[in-house]
Amino acid sequence: MLRVIPTSVVRIARLIALAFIAQAMVGPLDAQDAQGVRVVVADQIPAVTHDAPTFYADVLPILHENCVSCHQPAGLNMGGNVAPFSLMTYEDARPRARRIASAIREGRMPPWSAAEWQHGMFKGDRYLEDDEKTTLIAWAEEGASAGDPEDAPPVPEAVLSASIGANDWFLGEPDLVLEFDEQYCMDDDVRDIYVNIPVQLTEDMLPEDRWIQSIEYRNGPAVHHIIGGVGGLVPGAKPRIYEEGYGRLLRSGPREIMFNMHYNKEPGPGTAVCSNIKAGITFKKDGDVIRHVTGGDQLWMNPASLLIPAGDPSYSKSIEYEFEEDVEILSFMPHMHLRGKAALYEITYPDGRHETLLHVPKYEFNWQHSYAFREPVFAPKGSALRFTLWWDNSEDNPNNPDPSVDVRWGRPTHAEMSQGYMNFQTLDERHIVVGDPLPEDLRSGSDEDPRSRVRGR
Ligand code: HEC
Repeated sequence: MLRVIPTSVVRIARLIALAFIAQAMVGPLDAQDAQGVRVVVADQIPAVTHDAPTFYADVLPILHENCVSCHQPAGLNMGGNVAPFSLMTYEDARPRARRIASAIREGRMPPWSAAEWQHGMFKGDRYLEDDEKTTLIAWAEEGASAGDPEDAPPVPEAVLSASIGANDWFLGEPDLVLEFDEQYCMDDDVRDIYVNIPVQLTEDMLPEDRWIQSIEYRNGPAVHHIIGGVGGLVPGAKPRIYEEGYGRLLRSGPREIMFNMHYNKEPGPGTAVCSNIKAGITFKKDGDVIRHVTGGDQLWMNPASLLIPAGDPSYSKSIEYEFEEDVEILSFMPHMHLRGKAALYEITYPDGRHETLLHVPKYEFNWQHSYAFREPVFAPKGSALRFTLWWDNSEDNPNNPDPSVDVRWGRPTHAEMSQGYMNFQTLDERHIVVGDPLPEDLRSGSDEDPRSRVRGR
């Protein structure tokens, strides 16, 4: 999310508003007290203190800060998840006041699944403060009034600049765009399908290995997720940016990059659809310095051991990994399907200290967030990471396609997955200048794979 207005500014604005109301109350009270007309005072107070939140003064600042990065006419497209309506104006928000209140009350919006106590631990996290929730709900329930347009805060610059055309790129023009030669088409009766689609990377397109700066996908309808040779995309995921000092290599052409595509839609007459994807890649600039060569990992629960009994409301599996050298953990992303219920990553350090690193108490299949730590977590050699997942195969799970069957591991959404993605880096700092010849150990064919450093137990 775009943190466009610091909360403190909103708070100050609110304090000023409260002071204003207090002032308005004090005026008549004093005057009437002086005249000793207490009855009149009592009558007048309700009118004066009628301080139901108004859209312009109270609600809009909260929407600006927490909602409109997605809820605007051309909002953020996050792996196919595009907010269904704008919340930029009173006319947009007024008819949706009740839905807003229930989405807030039930914790569906803003979308974020890490536990409340983790507020502040992850980059780009999305939480509403308690008083913000109260304001939005009170506004919806107490008339959803407009108030005075003069109170409206200006639209933050970052929100305006985030607004883009449907075919534009959030991160600017890519250096390289990959797309399928042809659209992929799904027939009416197909609900769920996995296909591998190759994309030819020619020598012309990429004559030499280059360091990736960012990857952003544009995809058509029914694309549920992409696991590509240049980094995956799942619903709810933002474009991926490799920050200053961090890099990942894209190997030169000619070669084939395989995209493992998952398409998903409601079946039925007239639902056939064709779609393509575009992966827009930007590269690091010559002279940039790479200090950390990042690698991805997957914590795999043994698929063969996964058997979720029909009706089981809380089936659970754990796996433990031990780090064989000092690392810094950068991010996690648990991945399950429709029966996914909760996820937990815990660590026990060699000195016996134990810590929960990520708790997802209520997993949302439609929002597969990646949780990137603001401060990487240092895990010394010998630290043990425990990864636990829970599934709800009961009829109380509204997403459950069929509570009457035992469920095994499988790629279609009606089967379950049990992956924990993890990014970490080893601590040996490098000094690789972009544009210079690659160091020996990073030349093609000698892929440094941090995966080999982590062992399942
Ligand atoms: C990261 C992008 C994003 C942010 C931030 C976001 N939304 Fe949404 N919102 C969506 C998407 C996508 C959908 C449609 C899919 C869904 O319902 O999950 C949606 C759906 C909704 C809905 C209708 C569905 C429902 O659950 O009732 C409401 C109401 C809503 N959002 C309100 C808000 C409010 C209020 C905020 C800010 C407090 C907010 N959203 C922040 C992306 C976002």
